[in-house]
Amino acid sequence: MTAATPKIRFPHRHLLGIEGLSPDEISELLDLSESHVEQNRQTDKKRTTLRGRTCINLFFENSTRTRTSFELAGKRLGADVINMSVSTSSIKKGETLIDTAMTLNAMHPDVLVVRHPDSGAVQLLSEKVNCAVINGGDGRHEHPTQALLDALTIRRRKGKLSGLCVAICGDIMHSRVARSNIRLLSIMGARVRVVAPPTLLPAEIGRFGVETFHHMKEGLKDCDIVMMLRLQLERMNGSFVPSVREYFRFYGLDYAKLKVAKPDALIMHPGPMNRGVEIDGELADDIDRSVIREQVEMGVAVRMACLETLTGALPQSGGKT
Ligand code: NCD
Repeated sequence: MTAATPKIRFPHRHLLGIEGLSPDEISELLDLSESHVEQNRQTDKKRTTLRGRTCINLFFENSTRTRTSFELAGKRLGADVINMSVSTSSIKKGETLIDTAMTLNAMHPDVLVVRHPDSGAVQLLSEKVNCAVINGGDGRHEHPTQALLDALTIRRRKGKLSGLCVAICGDIMHSRVARSNIRLLSIMGARVRVVAPPTLLPAEIGRFGVETFHHMKEGLKDCDIVMMLRLQLERMNGSFVPSVREYFRFYGLDYAKLKVAKPDALIMHPGPMNRGVEIDGELADDIDRSVIREQVEMGVAVRMACLETLTGALPQSGGKT
């Protein structure tokens, strides 16, 4: 059992996005996640809160961190976890998705974690099944557990989210991580900036409620957090940047560009990283500035909290539904 006694009031059947969550719901999810961090550092990491439950990870797109951490999270809570990787290449996407969802639904899972290359696909699937659905990333739409783990990482380091200045830099256009983070950080009272070339900003950026910059020196000035994004080459069907070398010169984070940020500014990246493209490799490994590995660690704690919350199997309730 954990030391904290988190009280979660979470009136949602699924976790499809950050949109629609209240500041209290986000804070309570982060508090519950926090209660797992120490436990995950112990030799015995196993709990029984999800004993008897079945979690299925259904990934229509590649993943290292998200899939592994959902698997670990489920196993550490005592659930049975299966992983399914599905290729979308040669089959009509709509059919595959719904057929697969109905097949899995017939096996009575308690939670489905779904990643899909199409925005909105996870919501569509959630409408067809009886269990809770967690969005593990859908197209460029949302990746809620990534935003929650980023928030937990920031909150542990800075003690708060409210009032911080966060610069999200790079390929905003194709990034679900950016969209979920912009939503979460804004809901929690942080000031969000985006820094990108005009070609990598979505047309609707004006509606995001963020400050927009095209130059790193201006966008990073006095910020508390620098969040770098991967150049999502697989989602680009055209030329968005002149060349990778050119991109690094103007938008790649290195020690020189970081100088204008606050002296204690933290560097984040959701991974996978393209070293030498959006971030200098040495800086990414600099443990005085970079919290990239901590983000991965927090990912397991956050996913444990999400699984417990959506199944109603909270620590203090002894696993009741
Ligand atoms: C991100 C994703 O898949 O959206 N990765 C992740 O989940 N850690 C970001 C990315 O692929 O660039």
